Amino acid sequence: MMTKEEILAAQRDHLFPSVFHYYADPLVISHAKDQYVWDADGRQYLDFFGGIVTVSVGHCNEEVNKKVHAQIDRLQHVSTVLATEPQAALAKRVAEITPGGKLTKSFFTNSGTEANEMAILAARCYTGSTEIVALRYAYHGRSSMAMALSAQANWKLGPVTQAGIVHAVNAYCYRCPYGLAYPSCEVRCAQDVEQVIRTTTSGRIAGFIAEPIQGVGGYVVPPKEYFPIVADTVKKYGGVFISDEVQTGWGRTGGKWFGIEQWGVQPDIITSAKGLANGLPIGMTTARPEVADAVRGATISTFGGNPISSTAAKAVIDFIEYNKLSINAAEVGAYLRDKLLELQMKHPIIGDVRGMGLLQAIELVEDPVSKTPAVAQTLAVMEAARENGLLVGKGGLNGNVVRFSPPLNIGKSDVDEFSRTLDASLVKASALVAAS
Ligand SMILES: Cc1ncc(COP(=O)(O)O)c(C=O)c1O
Repeated sequence: MMTKEEILAAQRDHLFPSVFHYYADPLVISHAKDQYVWDADGRQYLDFFGGIVTVSVGHCNEEVNKKVHAQIDRLQHVSTVLATEPQAALAKRVAEITPGGKLTKSFFTNSGTEANEMAILAARCYTGSTEIVALRYAYHGRSSMAMALSAQANWKLGPVTQAGIVHAVNAYCYRCPYGLAYPSCEVRCAQDVEQVIRTTTSGRIAGFIAEPIQGVGGYVVPPKEYFPIVADTVKKYGGVFISDEVQTGWGRTGGKWFGIEQWGVQPDIITSAKGLANGLPIGMTTARPEVADAVRGATISTFGGNPISSTAAKAVIDFIEYNKLSINAAEVGAYLRDKLLELQMKHPIIGDVRGMGLLQAIELVEDPVSKTPAVAQTLAVMEAARENGLLVGKGGLNGNVVRFSPPLNIGKSDVDEFSRTLDASLVKASALVAAS
């Protein structure tokens, strides 16, 4: 067994330095169960970030793990050049629940990045066009192309070389790129996508990719008109609509399997990863059959659709459905939202409260009028929350958004514990910042 100090020293000496950690004094986690994790010193934390929106049904979920254990002893890996039941069963299960029942063919990989790579490839093969419209503030992964699709300087490492990708403004109402207010803005950001296509592309696009709610961007939620307008424009210019559901899938937004369904839009492709297998590596690209069939020729993802991850993913979907967790996400999410709004009344540093279901965030500002991002205070809130036994996430272009994405099977008493702790952490953080 390594000590905490040995773990941190080995990480520092033998991992790329780009593997960064939250917290001035990095937290070493030893084990976890349901909504709790424990550090190497035995301290317990309420986990309201879930391994970056990944622990969808609780840490070490017994029902999921029972199936994973059985599978690991039966068949671990043969690659996709041989057929296995877990991959086929997962693909069939996913096809049953995609929006409108229309996306019926899947390709499995190991991460959200790879899922988006495959989606863009499929869009290009299907349309014969190259150009892609993405959104500012987006995050789609860490391969060269996914970094090019992403639109936050912090997450574009090294030389970014991919051509054929343009970015429209996002629907960020709290900081409207046009300085307008909803609804009198008439959703100009959505209207502008047509201008972007007509002025920065050849007018023949392969597709449009967006997260229904931008995750790393700080849980930016577009107004209800946004995606229907954009979807019509994308169709008009011959592109396919790709919904990146890496954070918003599997009931997280409440009441629906996929985030884009909250806008009533029918996507051509959805991509997912993270919460699909509750922490086992998986990426999923699911498309309309015509789009999937356009990817001609052979391709391999060695670990894609491997029996262990596929078994976990199907078990997660079944668990979410059986326990009605998307309904729970809607109900407990509404309760969480109310608690955050109460905290906003008490703490003027909370400039905005936004999100859907169990994907909620607060944007911290120095004052509500200037909306200057409260960057140092955000770090102080993170540190104070950790001290108080609560793990939360950080996001936003300016690093001033605190993100909450607990497992979908938490209850209201967990939210009560969370909001008491966050309240105390906001108080402690403002005292720390004032003293510094
Ligand atoms: C919306 C979205 N898409 C894609 C990715 C990339 O997923 P992965 O880290 O599994 O490659 C992420 C990761 O945070 C994400 O949030």
